[in-house]
Amino acid sequence: MTTTDDIEAALRGVIDPELNADIVELGMVGDITIDGSDVSIGVALTIAACPMRDQIENDVVRKVKAIPGIEDVSVNVTAMNGEQRSELMGKVRLRARENAEPTMISPQTRVIAVSSGKGGVGKSSLSVNLALAISALGHRTGLLDADIWGFSVPRMLDSIDARLEAGDDRKIRPLQAAGLEVVSTGLMIDDEDTALMWRGLMLSKALEQFLTDVAWSPDLGYLIIDMPPGTGDVQMALSRMLPQAEMVVVTTPQRAAQKVAARVADMARRSHMPVVGVVENMSGFTTEEGRHYDLFGSGGGSELADQLGVPLLGQIPLDPNVVNGGDEGRPVVTSDPDGPAGREIRSVADRLLDLVPPAAADTCTARIAVLEEQLAGM
Ligand SMILES: Nc1ncnc2c1ncn2[C@@H]1O[C@H](COP(=O)(O)OP(=O)(O)OP(=O)(O)O)[C@@H](O)[C@H]1O
Ligand SMILES: [Mg+2]
Repeated sequence: MTTTDDIEAALRGVIDPELNADIVELGMVGDITIDGSDVSIGVALTIAACPMRDQIENDVVRKVKAIPGIEDVSVNVTAMNGEQRSELMGKVRLRARENAEPTMISPQTRVIAVSSGKGGVGKSSLSVNLALAISALGHRTGLLDADIWGFSVPRMLDSIDARLEAGDDRKIRPLQAAGLEVVSTGLMIDDEDTALMWRGLMLSKALEQFLTDVAWSPDLGYLIIDMPPGTGDVQMALSRMLPQAEMVVVTTPQRAAQKVAARVADMARRSHMPVVGVVENMSGFTTEEGRHYDLFGSGGGSELADQLGVPLLGQIPLDPNVVNGGDEGRPVVTSDPDGPAGREIRSVADRLLDLVPPAAADTCTARIAVLEEQLAGM
């Protein structure tokens, strides 16, 4: 049985990007009615013509739907009156004083964690290529290699030969590579043996450092995180520090891999990190003569997507240019954008951006100011 508390817990994952607090804390959540697998939720926005209305509404639906057993979510949007609004603004100011900025990632940044249940399914290849595809669509994009021990991002982006350095403010500057802001443990150490030293380091601690000590651009639209395989520690740390984080689950077409990925998705739910969609990778191979081989089986991706009730964002075929591009540091979306894998990854990026659109640039506070000016002039 789902309770109001479960719904509220999920709604704490919906962040008003402008006010940088969750909508429960902000008092924006009104009546919650649960009827079996249907939920209806009242949401009071600061202003009726809130530019972030769609974003908040979509986030509410997605996060609440991620609760097992919930199928239908309806949102009743209302606007606050002047009194409610000033109470909220008071809360926001108090909160800003109490909590120093916990991470260097702007609350406006959309965070996508690329995860899977087992290794070698193509998380890193997808992360790098997806980041490049999103950047090519005109959004400032960051790429965080959270695979502390098994980092592979620097090798895949050959243009990086520099090392991370701190600025005068002692914050680490992300490296600029192929138009992306990139951070990886592989960029802090000179040889792969030294990487062994990192074994003593707690994974979640390292992630924390990447989020608090790196001076990411304040106007980063998207941050793609290449997650390490397995365990839930990093996922938990991520959702604690970046409550807006969501997951893309990568799987291969065969059934065994799909079961593992289902475990990841389950964990995502427990940490209130919703799954945006599933990407099937290594989905068959087509020869130049047009013969198609399902080398690793078929159907795993759509089965998993159905099971989770999320869309299948794409099926990336086996393409030698993914391997070659990865080894030579020339990712397939830039070296062969119209090849089989390049085209499909770009289409995954399009679908992802439809589902998780960039945060609204226009703000409610700006509109409230205009409204108040108009009222004062009356
Ligand atoms: N669509 C594809 N076609 C051909 N080769 C691919 C494809 N996707 C990934 N590969 C290759 O498979 C290997 C594993 O991919 P990758 O390193 O991206 O996986 P991973 O999930 O990040 O692995 P790990 O768990 O070790 O971090 C790499 O050699 C990569 O080049
Ligand atoms: Mg990897």
